Amino acid sequence: MSPPLPPPISSFTPKVAILGAGIVGLATAFELAIKRGVPVTLYDPAPMGRGASWAAAGMLAPAFEAAAEEGVHPHLFELCMESAELWPDFSIDLAHSADTDSGYSGRPSLALAFDMAETAAMHQLARALDARDVAHEELPPASAHLLEPSIAPDLIAALQMPTDGQVDNRAVVRALIMALQRSPLATLRSEAAPLRSEGGRLTLEGHDLILAAAGWNTAAIKVEENGQMLSLVNWAPALDQIDCYGGQMLSVAHGYGSPETTLRCGSIYIAPKADRVIIGATMEPGIATDAPAPEAIAALHARAARLCPVLAELPVIETWAGIRPGTPDHAPMIGETNTPGLFVAAGHYRNGILLAPITARIIADMMLGKSLSALHASFTPARVFEAA
Ligand code: GLY
Repeated sequence: MSPPLPPPISSFTPKVAILGAGIVGLATAFELAIKRGVPVTLYDPAPMGRGASWAAAGMLAPAFEAAAEEGVHPHLFELCMESAELWPDFSIDLAHSADTDSGYSGRPSLALAFDMAETAAMHQLARALDARDVAHEELPPASAHLLEPSIAPDLIAALQMPTDGQVDNRAVVRALIMALQRSPLATLRSEAAPLRSEGGRLTLEGHDLILAAAGWNTAAIKVEENGQMLSLVNWAPALDQIDCYGGQMLSVAHGYGSPETTLRCGSIYIAPKADRVIIGATMEPGIATDAPAPEAIAALHARAARLCPVLAELPVIETWAGIRPGTPDHAPMIGETNTPGLFVAAGHYRNGILLAPITARIIADMMLGKSLSALHASFTPARVFEAA
């Protein structure tokens, strides 16, 4: 049986095309079609949900990823916190619509320190959280070992971060696709959108509004003008600011005594899911390859085993490389471009999974003519363009 339609939202309901079926495009289609009753067509010529959203580790980590970063958008942390708070309800709504669980867990993450430099970095993070009045607790090694016995015995200090949970990102994109396939208001098309420019106006037949949400490739989306194929960046110059940041990762099988808590130490993280333990990640600016390098993977595995020795014994299930889309201030562009009717939601850098629910809300609010808070408005694509 089809799910009931949401009530009509206004006298004029736009028809929306979304270009890109990663978690941001999928979550926005979910918000529009399933929660707000707006018809949506989702286009992607690549397999849906199999880009950066598939490669991610699914950590929902405002504290570790955004609280102490320097040189980022001044309100990135607030946006990350707002989205982290949306995740419990978002995952329940998704479970109802798709009849499947997406592995949301609010179990707090632990930042670990094994030497003086790591302890100093941990204390710097704790000070940043204090300054923002965000809950956290420094744990003595014995308490950390009680919570997570797989941590190596020479732990010096640990910081518990109740704000930083996790989800199974692959389960989320699968559930979003399932929910949208069931919705009478959503159409999924495994092809590039036939975008056209007519007299300088960007059009997509049968649609009133367009959202470009194709991650690091958003600028390169094709537009046909007088028989020539041009790139979307000509209609939204801010997209030129999105760069690629490669990341290599691996997963190992669970085994006796394998970790159950998300653990972080510098650039290394260990994110246990129900069926695998993810280990990440490299950060490689300017690199856009999906081929992992065996030396980089071996180094990650060894560094993770330094935190949790049992990981060295567990068989590797998969190795992969993903491509994060980043902007100069490491925050997403969310909003309408200088081309009327063309919106963008891209450039989520290390926080695409975390920020998907709030991004979807902001775009839906804008498309339906609702006023935005100053916080949400500050992620306009115009800011990056002006700063460039
Ligand atoms: N958010 C984790 C990463 O980007 O590696």
